Amino acid sequence: MRWNGHMSRQVIAPRYGDPGVLEVREREVAPPGAGRVLIRMRAAGVNPADTKQIAGLFGDDPAKLPLRPGSEIAGVVAAVGEGAVGSDGPIEVGQEVVAYRVVGGWADDVLAKAENVFPKPGPASFAAAANLLLAGTTAAHLVDAASVRDGDVVVVHGASGGVGTLALQLARIAGARVLGTTSDRNADLVRRLGAEPVRYGDGLVDRLRELAPGGIDAALDCVGTDEAVAASLALLHDPGRLATIVAFEPVLAAGGKALGTGPGADPGTAFRNAARARLIALAEDGRIEVPIAATVPLAQAAEALRALARDHPGGKLALVP
Ligand SMILES: NC(=O)c1ccc[n+]([C@@H]2O[C@H](COP(=O)([O-])OP(=O)(O)OC[C@H]3O[C@@H](n4cnc5c(N)ncnc54)[C@H](OP(=O)(O)O)[C@@H]3O)[C@@H](O)[C@H]2O)c1
Repeated sequence: MRWNGHMSRQVIAPRYGDPGVLEVREREVAPPGAGRVLIRMRAAGVNPADTKQIAGLFGDDPAKLPLRPGSEIAGVVAAVGEGAVGSDGPIEVGQEVVAYRVVGGWADDVLAKAENVFPKPGPASFAAAANLLLAGTTAAHLVDAASVRDGDVVVVHGASGGVGTLALQLARIAGARVLGTTSDRNADLVRRLGAEPVRYGDGLVDRLRELAPGGIDAALDCVGTDEAVAASLALLHDPGRLATIVAFEPVLAAGGKALGTGPGADPGTAFRNAARARLIALAEDGRIEVPIAATVPLAQAAEALRALARDHPGGKLALVP
């Protein structure tokens, strides 16, 4: 197709630091090259990983600046490059889609590799769809690594968070009974999604033991506190069925599984990539949902990151144009 470039906003980090370093820049949008798709962003996912990337915790090479944060979006296809075929077949201009992984998703217009583009699940809002795949693939990895199966009693630590809400729903779909640790204010959300809420903090082991006097079969740690690790190990029959995405060292030392990027951890790249289509299908069928706490204008991306760290919003935040 013919392409007339236009100006568009892009959030960048010109240096590593706290969210305050973020700036919005205008740039001209390039047409999509071969195998690429240009998507008009309707919502972009917000994740703790964005804060960590901007802080330089995943590497602080000055040559990589300016950073272009945002790894997942939902939107409408604006242009399709030559030979660009999506994960689910041909991609058409006007189609509503989800893209993960992308670079520079916090922008009005986003270029994605075609194989990372999926149809947007019909029941999901753009905000929910934009937040499905990073947390969802991580949650699927946790459920798989801890071998969650029918009849298990499973604890999800950080059950009201982005990953936790999806981990608890996937564990329920696998047939498990789920106890989800949460603050009081997010207990209703955890209950609505199908888990039994348990307040974290002093006395956690006793509260969990009261609900699961026979111990637990698996623990999915989405928070990484000493308390979450210790409570899991106190109640598990087999420490090999504790999986964490945060507390790598203590969990590996105890014989559990560490998932993600870091020493000794399993990044699970192939597993997570393959899980995307299943998550899209589950959301399409209305079997999983991504609770959205709030949408935030793109220009206030820094405030969204601060709110994510500060407010325990209970569900995800999405940036919108
Ligand atoms: N390794 C990987 O592959 C990978 C992938 C994705 C994310 N992560 C990491 O996993 C963590 C969670 O990510 P997320 O997206 O789910 O974050 P999130 O949406 O911010 O959720 C964090 C949750 O932690 C809960 N929480 C806070 N303090 C707690 C405590 N002391 N005990 C128990 N729960 C507590 C909060 O629940 P309340 O509201 O109830 O307080 C909140 O809902 C982050 O550190 C992130 O960087 C790792």
